Amino acid sequence: MTAKLILGKEVSEEIYGELKERIQALKAKGTTPGLAVVLVGDDPASQVYVRKKGEMCESLGMKSLTVIMPEETTQEELLAKVAELNADPSIHGFLVQLPLPPHIDEGAVIDAIDPAKDVDCFHPSNVGRMLIGNPDFLPATPAGVQQMLIRSGIETAGKHVVVVGRSNIVGKPMAAMMVQKGKGADCTVTIVHSRTKGLSEITSKADILIVAIGKPRFITADMVADGAVVIDVGTNRIEDPTHPKGSRLVGDVDFESVKEKASYITPVPGGVGPMTICMLMANAVRAAEKVVG
Ligand code: GUN
Repeated sequence: MTAKLILGKEVSEEIYGELKERIQALKAKGTTPGLAVVLVGDDPASQVYVRKKGEMCESLGMKSLTVIMPEETTQEELLAKVAELNADPSIHGFLVQLPLPPHIDEGAVIDAIDPAKDVDCFHPSNVGRMLIGNPDFLPATPAGVQQMLIRSGIETAGKHVVVVGRSNIVGKPMAAMMVQKGKGADCTVTIVHSRTKGLSEITSKADILIVAIGKPRFITADMVADGAVVIDVGTNRIEDPTHPKGSRLVGDVDFESVKEKASYITPVPGGVGPMTICMLMANAVRAAEKVVG
């Protein structure tokens, strides 16, 4: 079997089409949804993400504010910026790009964000709401994975989902979402991670395998069941002297071997990647809709 590809670009285009209509409806009521992104320091990867988020906002006709603060910004200065954005009625949602410089307490910054504007869904109150099945927002990357499953017509009810990785940004919320009642969920969920014993026996029993462990080509064909749906959230840059840049991106899944066994697979790049910004935009639109009603 050669797996069908699930492409984030295609799925996100469909969602952007829906978002544009919702943005028009908000504008007709006199509100332009506004999203702000705060970047502290000059991490090159973060600079790329922040620029892409700003560009996407503008292309959808939303208000975009990018706040760039120097590496030596103090915690008090960053908390003051968060308070300012919490109070700004033209900004419906915002996020503080992670990672933050080591002298800043990430948890304290996330706690200070107004949960109604927390489009990352990182605030403990939003994480809790998601866990009890009454979310205001869903975290962008797991929500993107769920949309890819739903919009590819993949049945999830009663399926065994194995999530590989336990990060707060992907693994834990992904598992919490797939175990809920409802569309794109109703799954039996297992989380495995770096300390799991017999990991490959568990992954090879998955109907749907969602991999976010941050290790290049960690999942090989022998760890995957015939006909499984394989979603690769990893993006790892590896050296490749044959490539013009001297390096290239690979996922956490060994795509070449696993695609021969899976029924569906997401490539890297071009798979889950484009979904994260898309779902962030969806959260910003939702934040504005909650204010406008
Ligand atoms: N750094 C890597 N991914 C993310 C994300 O989704 N949100 C924020 N705020 N920072 C990140």
